[in-house]
Amino acid sequence: MDETLFMIKPDAVEKHRIGSILAEVERAGFEILDMRLVRLRPRDARLFYAVHEGKPFLEELVQFMSSGPVVPIRLRREKAVQALRDLIGATDPREARPGTIRALHAESKGRNAVHASDSPESARAEIEFFFGDGAARR
Ligand code: CMP
Repeated sequence: MDETLFMIKPDAVEKHRIGSILAEVERAGFEILDMRLVRLRPRDARLFYAVHEGKPFLEELVQFMSSGPVVPIRLRREKAVQALRDLIGATDPREARPGTIRALHAESKGRNAVHASDSPESARAEIEFFFGDGAARR
């Protein structure tokens, strides 16, 4: 069994989609190990997305991710990282396979409803970010 980090973003929280998105995740066989509701400060959003430092969309991403509460969730399943990426669909909802979480709930490439770790290494770092020692202040 592997773990991955899933996050429901401010657009989906605002639209009251937490329950239906979690139902889709549980139906796909994921076990919820830990979960929070947290409003990120801009500096923490920037830290979370440090790999995107220098990208043209970073400022917009940081502003959006700190604009309202997010729901980070620690998930477990066999082949969790790839299975969750498949379940959420492409970053841009116009390219997301029908039936995927982004096809159903995302508005645009920026306001795209959810995030999922893109590798086992990112999963470890992102789970530590939200659920490790020191995460309580975020
Ligand atoms: P996420 O899976 O959270 O990882 C990085 C995020 O950057 C991505 O989802 C998008 O929400 C965001 N992103 C990527 N490309 C763009 C873009 N061109 N414009 C705005 N946001 C983007």
